[in-house]
Amino acid sequence: MTRIAERIATLPPYPFARIDELKAEKRRAGVDLIDLGIGDPDLPTPPHIVAALREAATVASHHRYPSYAGMIEMRAAAASFMAKRFGVKLDPATEVVALIGSKEGVAHLPLALVDPGDVVLCPDPGYPVYSVGTQFAGGEVYSLPLRRENGFLPDLRAIPTDVARRAKLIWVNYPNNPTAALATRGFYEELVVFAQEHDIVIASDLAYSEMYYGAEPPPSLLEIPGARDVTIELHSLSKTYNMTGWRVGFAVGNRELVGALGKVKTNVDSGVFEAVQVAAIAALTGDQSCVAEQRRIYKARREALCGGLRRAGMDVIVPEATFYVLVGTPRGMTSLDYAGKILDQTGVVVTPATGFGACGEGFVRLTLCADKARLEEAAARLAKLPT
Ligand SMILES: Cc1ncc(COP(=O)(O)O)c(C=O)c1O
Repeated sequence: MTRIAERIATLPPYPFARIDELKAEKRRAGVDLIDLGIGDPDLPTPPHIVAALREAATVASHHRYPSYAGMIEMRAAAASFMAKRFGVKLDPATEVVALIGSKEGVAHLPLALVDPGDVVLCPDPGYPVYSVGTQFAGGEVYSLPLRRENGFLPDLRAIPTDVARRAKLIWVNYPNNPTAALATRGFYEELVVFAQEHDIVIASDLAYSEMYYGAEPPPSLLEIPGARDVTIELHSLSKTYNMTGWRVGFAVGNRELVGALGKVKTNVDSGVFEAVQVAAIAALTGDQSCVAEQRRIYKARREALCGGLRRAGMDVIVPEATFYVLVGTPRGMTSLDYAGKILDQTGVVVTPATGFGACGEGFVRLTLCADKARLEEAAARLAKLPT
């Protein structure tokens, strides 16, 4: 009989099994489902990026193993994006590494930095790979509650000194999944001081950096004085350019940290298909008006969904960034029950925020990954939900 490793056997059970079953049941019954459960853009990749891939795919040299760290031209494109967008100057040769999507970097980073028994500080609710990656490396997860009353920022002062002493790594993710919160510069400054004081590496996940609706673009943590000594930041092309299926991102920051992650990758994977890297160069160095246009589309969708839900008297957190919308669950009902009830009675698929950690209790998460008319329809269906 096959023996399953502890690290797999002890993973928490898949949180959405019940929702998935109900979804399949509804689909079989012919219900017109509106799926706002998954954060996967429905918009196409901009044509100039697709054209770059098409052409690069015909070049024979791209068919061979890529360099582990990424083509130097791709790393230079990432550095030029960081300089233009954030004013952060990086050496492409030592301070940038290509990723097979940022998820790959999130999962592998603990293997580079965490020894068995080390603590990793992970946001709750948060992207589940922070804690799974920690577990795979033998680390110990210490959850940092993100609470509405704190603007979904962790309270660093509430971390016990002995935990901070044992901590190797802290994950932050702003713009945030699932809360859609943004970090203040003040929080980032406090975070850098905390990390320096306790000798902790900051891993900043900026997968949603370009998806914002206010006048002020979200900053990179690397803009903060002193951050470069202690920070590695993960970027993704997935949501910015509708390239979730392409699997490309990059990590930047402190050269020792970037180098350590690169070393893990050298031993685990063989890099990103070069034709995809050429397309990533086209995305990062090309005209960014497609990204601005997308922001306009998501903003209109946000008005359609949130406006409708608000008019219906629901407790909606209108996002200033990302394509996620948190809705408070009615008193006396769990997130999972509420998500089940919504699906059962309206055919709208939402995610219980407890899928991102226990502190997600009290919320369900909706996405803006459907066109405006469908989002209006979803809001109208939810408005009719008996309370
Ligand atoms: C917070 C966060 N980080 C990272 C990722 C991974 O994105 P990718 O691997 O497509 O770059 C996601 C995907 O949903 C995410 O929500």
